[in-house]
Amino acid sequence: MNSTTLFLAAVVLLSCLGNAQAMDRSELGDVLKTIPPNGPFWKYGTLVMRRRTKKAGMAPVVFAHWSHRARYTCRVCHLDLGFSMRAGDTGISRAQYTAGKYCGACHDGVTAFGVQDGEPSLCARCHMKDTQALEASFETFAAPLPIAGFGNGIDWAGALKSGRVSPRNSLSFAAPSMPLPEKLHLPMKLSTAAPRSDVTFSHEDHFSELDCSSCHPDIFNIKKKGTVDFSMDKNIFGNYCGACHMRVAFPMNDCKRCHSYMSNFSGF
Ligand code: HEC
Ligand code: HEC
Ligand code: HEC
Ligand code: HEC
Ligand code: HEC
Ligand code: HEC
Repeated sequence: MNSTTLFLAAVVLLSCLGNAQAMDRSELGDVLKTIPPNGPFWKYGTLVMRRRTKKAGMAPVVFAHWSHRARYTCRVCHLDLGFSMRAGDTGISRAQYTAGKYCGACHDGVTAFGVQDGEPSLCARCHMKDTQALEASFETFAAPLPIAGFGNGIDWAGALKSGRVSPRNSLSFAAPSMPLPEKLHLPMKLSTAAPRSDVTFSHEDHFSELDCSSCHPDIFNIKKKGTVDFSMDKNIFGNYCGACHMRVAFPMNDCKRCHSYMSNFSGF
């Protein structure tokens, strides 16, 4: 091989790898081992909020995604009500929620139990000294829903498709929702040159719960293959797909739900 063919081979190789900077097998193997093991099902997507409560000497607030997402789509909270998708970012204060913002938009004593001064037992329903009651209610909640191996142990996509859960898509009764553009109905292949990845992404499935702005432009560039450095290790560290699929939607442990012909990784 002369130096020109070597150079050409290197160029071909690099352009195959593209921006994804695929890792070699053993490097990726090490990253895959860092995926946290699935904890108790009730805990997945359950947030403990103690930023302000700690200073005020109150018990922390425990917010369960599972109970809320069965009733409302992600869009209701993360678009309409302005909750951030990063824990702690919203900076919710008592003054705000008693004035009807954030949690107070629903917890008004009508749609859900209220937040105003008065009955101390109501405070304790959010400011939890322990989570026993919440854990017990999870058992009853999950029992009729289709099962998955990871995350909440619930196949949320299946539950949505079969109508076992039918979350509301808006707090107002007239639900204005932009239709999905025609060209996004077909699932798209997200393909880098990495040999084992063959991931399909469905706008249609995601749009039933989320808004365009949940992903564009912050998480994904709107141009297909325009997302720089889009790879499995980045996913696992909570970027890209992992922004949701490590925290609330089924986690990365469930390989075969994205890589349809892969068996689930058994390194943990
Ligand atoms: C009833 C309101 C509500 C609904 C519905 C809801 N969320 Fe959230 N979500 C929250 C709140 C509150 C937080 C915490 C925000 C904060 O701490 O600033 C949060 C945080 C998150 C986070 C960050 C979690 C972390 O550990 O860093 C992600 C990701 C997220 N939500 C995704 C979703 C997805 C996906 C859906 C739909 C399946 C959804 N949420 C439905 C209220 C909601
Ligand atoms: C979009 C409406 C909505 C928003 C926003 C919302 N909730 Fe709820 N929440 C409900 C409903 C409905 C229930 C069930 C009815 C009831 O228990 O009164 C509920 C129940 C709960 C429960 C009882 C246990 C459980 O999980 O079922 C807790 C705790 C709770 N919410 C905390 C919060 C906190 C904390 C926030 C803000 C960070 C919040 N909720 C925001 C609608 C909402
Ligand atoms: C629907 C859920 C919910 C209920 C009910 C609720 N709170 Fe809160 N509360 C929150 C959330 C969320 C925070 C912010 C948590 C954090 O970041 O530490 C908070 C924070 C606080 C703080 C911290 C100081 C501040 O300015 O934010 C105090 C004090 C507080 N709540 C008192 C109460 C009292 C008293 C009651 C009962 C009358 C009550 N809360 C009922 C959700 C609730
Ligand atoms: C759950 C995340 C998510 C949501 C929600 C989402 N997208 Fe996307 N979108 C993606 C991903 C991932 C890609 C591919 C990016 C890449 O390959 O770099 C993409 C690509 C695109 C593309 C380029 C398609 C092509 O064939 O070149 C367009 C246009 C687009 N999205 C528009 C939208 C619109 C409009 C909405 C709302 C109706 C939306 N997206 C909602 C994740 C999302
Ligand atoms: C903004 C949040 C968000 C992002 C980003 C996101 N998803 Fe999802 N995805 C969801 C939610 C919510 C569901 C519903 C199922 C669940 O919660 O487990 C879902 C469902 C899916 C399903 C359907 C599973 C089934 O069994 O039908 C696949 C496949 C999927 N996502 C792949 C991806 C891929 C690949 C990416 C990155 C390109 C991605 N998602 C990015 C939120 C997200
Ligand atoms: C939520 C969807 C999702 C899940 C779950 C998932 N992956 Fe991936 N995976 C992706 C995406 C997206 C890419 C990068 C885009 C592409 O290459 O098509 C990728 C790429 C890969 C690659 C190619 C190399 C690289 O770094 O890009 C391998 C190997 C891989 N994943 C293995 C796994 C294994 C093993 C699991 C289970 C532990 C898993 N994946 C779970 C979405 C997922």
